[in-house]
Amino acid sequence: MPGAIAVLGGTGPEGFGLALRWVRAGESVIIGSRDAGRARESAARIQAAVGANARVSGEENTAACAAADLIVLTVPFEGHCALLKQIKPAIRSGSIVVDTTVPLAASVGGRATRTLGIWEGSAAQQAAELVPQGVSVVAAFHNTSADILNGDATVDCDVIVCSDDPEATKTVRTLASKIPGVRAIDGGKLENARIVEQITALLIGLNIRHKGHSGIRITGLPEKAYEV
Ligand SMILES: NC(=O)c1ccc[n+]([C@@H]2O[C@H](COP(=O)([O-])OP(=O)(O)OC[C@H]3O[C@@H](n4cnc5c(N)ncnc54)[C@H](OP(=O)(O)O)[C@@H]3O)[C@@H](O)[C@H]2O)c1
Repeated sequence: MPGAIAVLGGTGPEGFGLALRWVRAGESVIIGSRDAGRARESAARIQAAVGANARVSGEENTAACAAADLIVLTVPFEGHCALLKQIKPAIRSGSIVVDTTVPLAASVGGRATRTLGIWEGSAAQQAAELVPQGVSVVAAFHNTSADILNGDATVDCDVIVCSDDPEATKTVRTLASKIPGVRAIDGGKLENARIVEQITALLIGLNIRHKGHSGIRITGLPEKAYEV
């Protein structure tokens, strides 16, 4: 990526795992948090894990957002809308916002194996209504287990990337492909995020039932569908 990647909520398992994988791949990452100190602690943990050449720092969410052209949202659904409203003035024109959010019913005290109905169709489509004009929202990484991302093993999961901006889709597919084992597949329009988000509720149920860390693989497409 040309500039830094801001991972907002990167102190949590999903954002931390993505940040760790990207820093390992040589990317420059800014961990975002509601608390700058917590963000710096997470950055220091990545630095310690990856080594002296690691390019990682920590900032409060809005400051992290202001310093990056690629912003990855990894906060629970209950904080999704408020965070987007907070960072809106800091999102640079032409930026990409990558939304990993799964609107689990757990956000309102329900089950993690069920999702909420979102007026716009999905959390990612809600995000698209909240970002400034000229900013592309890309839905991705919903099905990638934080437990696996935080380990050392190859990630046995495909990432379905959905967006209404083909260039942004390509950028995020390239970024996803930097995680060993991941094949990043163009999933079409942003409206398809509603399907990809729902799959995660099923995966959580499978993990509970079978005690594992499930992912998805898409088979049967021509080889070029898996290449970036
Ligand atoms: N966990 C997974 O395996 C997984 C897989 C795929 C997708 N996802 C998606 O990735 C996102 C993050 O998942 P996670 O398991 O890492 O979540 P999490 O641990 O609940 O939250 C991640 C971080 O978000 C911040 N946060 C918590 N509540 C917030 C609020 N109300 N407003 C703003 N920030 C808040 C916290 O950071 P600070 O306190 O430092 O601000 C926290 O460390 C979710 O939307 C989830 O659906 C998760």
